[in-house]
Amino acid sequence: MGASYRSPHHLPESSQMQTDQGRLGILLPGLGAVASTFIAGVIASRQGLADPVGSLTETGHLDGGPMRDALGLASLDDLVFGGWDPYRVTALDAAQRAGVLDAALLEKLGPELLEIKAMPAVFDRDWVPALTDTDNVKEGASHLELADALRADVNAFKEENHLDRVVAVWTGSTEAYREPGAAHESLAAFEAGLEASDPSISPSQVYAYALVREGVPVANGSPNLMFDFPAMHELVALTGTPVAGRDFKTGQTLVKTALAPMLAARLLGVNGWFSTNILGNLDGLVLNEEDNFKSKEVTKGGVLGSILDGETHPELYGDIDHLVRINYYPPKGDDKEGWDNIDLFGWLGYPMQLKVNFLCRDSVLAAPIVLDLARLLDFAARRGESGIVDWLGFYFKEPMALDGEETVHHLFEQETRLRQALLAPK
Ligand SMILES: NC(=O)c1ccc[n+]([C@@H]2O[C@H](COP(=O)([O-])OP(=O)(O)OC[C@H]3O[C@@H](n4cnc5c(N)ncnc54)[C@H](O)[C@@H]3O)[C@@H](O)[C@H]2O)c1
Repeated sequence: MGASYRSPHHLPESSQMQTDQGRLGILLPGLGAVASTFIAGVIASRQGLADPVGSLTETGHLDGGPMRDALGLASLDDLVFGGWDPYRVTALDAAQRAGVLDAALLEKLGPELLEIKAMPAVFDRDWVPALTDTDNVKEGASHLELADALRADVNAFKEENHLDRVVAVWTGSTEAYREPGAAHESLAAFEAGLEASDPSISPSQVYAYALVREGVPVANGSPNLMFDFPAMHELVALTGTPVAGRDFKTGQTLVKTALAPMLAARLLGVNGWFSTNILGNLDGLVLNEEDNFKSKEVTKGGVLGSILDGETHPELYGDIDHLVRINYYPPKGDDKEGWDNIDLFGWLGYPMQLKVNFLCRDSVLAAPIVLDLARLLDFAARRGESGIVDWLGFYFKEPMALDGEETVHHLFEQETRLRQALLAPK
């Protein structure tokens, strides 16, 4: 909350040398708690009103100097924001509704936040039943028409803001879990499905299609299956677009993928890991629906297996009861509690317990990830990378892996891979 931070334009000229990349547009499907905390935080940092703590790209170092300079990343001053939401909100409304940032700070940022107005969304309540009375939803004769309308929005955003480069980060709600079907099997089937408004195609997949068709690099901050099926792999390859996902690694999973390596390094056994979350924000309300929680359960549940290796050490990790729960409890708001109870055992099998109570703030942890993903995806695109950007796995609960490669969950291996990839000549 200090006021010491200054964005790069306050630095001596020599450290700005490589940051002159022009303006970067960031499109956010979903103007909710995470998106508004991110946008407000960037504006506050630009004005020197608060510090962008937790952002590697803004405060981290690489190769002996600031990462943003080493990589020539877009400066905070060069970021331009846009977004979609099924409610007719501005970024200020969204921040006030989310209740994450205090009113005094929002008052100072108000004029800029009011300028960012949600574009009408592609939305279907079938996929997010908890959201009622929406008033800002696109109408179209087919899913394809809706995708075309999104593509027109992207182009209008570029033109109005004189942008050459745009990236997108999905900050919209978690949709109900549904396995991909026949419409997802090839690009031709998917496009036919869009034309026929196939109900197995989710709104987030319509966004994924529209954005990738426009060559916009996309990061998926939710557990939604935006890119995880053959049709989208085909489209990503065809258009040469970088994509990354899925589900921001913020609170409990961040802790879990840092603690599990410690237990594995010391070869301490684990019988059980019970994780529960108590939260009261809109995300919590959405996840209170069984089908929407199922999406989260998939991304939260898979992280231990690759770190606590039950094949090599069945005696230590062969039979772990791993339970994950999310409890919607309105008084908590965005101040989530993550409780972890780990039943472990050591020398001669003697049992022990480790209990972690992380009193975190969900969107405060997610906002710097949005900033890093937007800038690093843009960096990847400028460097000519396309397809799944697996080295961004550091930021995700369920990182997308390249064909035939294992998903890495270990936080410190992910950090090493990220840094190596950033330094690798391309
Ligand atoms: N906050 C975190 O720490 C965190 C961590 C990991 C993942 N996530 C995921 O990030 C996403 C955003 O989280 P949040 O806390 O900001 O949630 P939120 O509920 O505050 O915001 C989501 C916004 O998306 C909008 N939305 C829903 N469907 C949409 C659509 N089809 N098109 C455009 N907008 C749509 C909603 O109206 C809402 O404003 C969620 O999927 C959440 O699960 C959040």
